[in-house]
Amino acid sequence: MVAMLRESIRWIFSGDSVEGHLSIIMPTPIVALEEIAGFLEGSGITVHDGRDFSAMLALYERMGLLRPDMLAKLRPPHAELADNWRKLHEGDASLACTLVARGPDGVPQGAITAVRAWDEAWLIQHFGVMPEAEPGTAVALQIASSSLLLTRADLRHACCFVGIDNARVQAWFDQFFRLGDAFEVASRIDLVRWARLPGGNSKTIAAPAGLEILAIEPGAPSWGAFTRCLGPIASDALSMQFNTTSRAFACRGLERERNVLLLFDRGHQKAFLIEERASPGVNLSGMLDTWWLFSLDESRPLDESIVELAANAISTRCPDERAGILLIPGSAPPPLRAPGFTRIAGARLYAFNRTGVRRFRDELALRYGDVRAAMERRRARDARGHQ
Ligand SMILES: CC(C)(COP(=O)(O)OP(=O)(O)OC[C@H]1O[C@@H](n2cnc3c(N)ncnc32)[C@H](O)[C@@H]1OP(=O)(O)O)[C@@H](O)C(=O)NCCC(=O)NCCS
Repeated sequence: MVAMLRESIRWIFSGDSVEGHLSIIMPTPIVALEEIAGFLEGSGITVHDGRDFSAMLALYERMGLLRPDMLAKLRPPHAELADNWRKLHEGDASLACTLVARGPDGVPQGAITAVRAWDEAWLIQHFGVMPEAEPGTAVALQIASSSLLLTRADLRHACCFVGIDNARVQAWFDQFFRLGDAFEVASRIDLVRWARLPGGNSKTIAAPAGLEILAIEPGAPSWGAFTRCLGPIASDALSMQFNTTSRAFACRGLERERNVLLLFDRGHQKAFLIEERASPGVNLSGMLDTWWLFSLDESRPLDESIVELAANAISTRCPDERAGILLIPGSAPPPLRAPGFTRIAGARLYAFNRTGVRRFRDELALRYGDVRAAMERRRARDARGHQ
């Protein structure tokens, strides 16, 4: 694995990976890239083996990665969680790869995970760094993870969810999207979120007359709304039509499924409700244990009765202990008064195609050279101060 990582870093350095447009935006400081190769070799980034889930959870807690309501569901970690975490990471990195950055004393300082969440896309998740970590740790982890993904010939897309209130990380991505042509290789979509909290009042309410629900196959004619709503990059990334993901997870004794429901109002198709399911432990923030609601008519906001019908369907299909998140693309929230649902901070979905992943990685690599150079200057200043 380390050899593979070094190879991919050498590949950045070789310049093959630097897109034409990137070299126009900024001249490639080859020296900085050489430094990256050197630094990562001795950076103490290791591949996590899936054992000791409790230690990883403790690290995530210290890094402030998980909100209190997420932690409440994970603490104390039950045996199934630790077992699923091990299955996810065991064997090879074909399903998930968690990288851990360690300080000079070997103590973990940060981590990042890539999990093959959809047929065509890997989800970057569980990313955090301790406040006292070496400067540059966050960037090094992101470079290492995206470089590893790019070694996979089958990598088509990478995605991540970032809370709207996470100003620091949103600012990083704003940097990436500062030039309009970034939208040719990546997209960002605002999502309104409601959490269905365990123990909440989740009584179903009677569905209004004339509304009905039908289960359909992904790829049915009305599926075009999915692409219209998310745009080509994100809809390709989130596609799950061939069940390859489900099969890959099933081979490890894990669940990764999608169910699609079509919502009708007096015989007219109005919306899709997509249920995403993953075994507990696959994604600790619950973003793969979600429901997505899409309007079939993008020119009109979802109407209240359809949102209520969707909420009803979730409450009926989702047992109490399996809390879910309802995601609605767009920034104007339709009203949701169904009991048991609590509005939480919105999130933004970032989706990159392969060129986008490479460009993101290369931009970070350039940035990382700056971070390292600033660090060296500070060390030299401190050393002079002590003389
Ligand atoms: C978010 C988090 C990983 C940042 O780690 P950090 O060590 O504080 O990293 P920094 O913000 O200091 O980054 C170092 C530098 O690299 C830059 N950088 C890092 N990643 C970058 C990216 N993807 N794009 C552009 N710049 C980036 C930063 O802007 C910063 O430069 P500056 O010093 O000139 O401002 C850390 O605060 C954390 O663990 N937070 C809690 C968990 C969390 O929010 N995780 C992300 C969930 S999506």
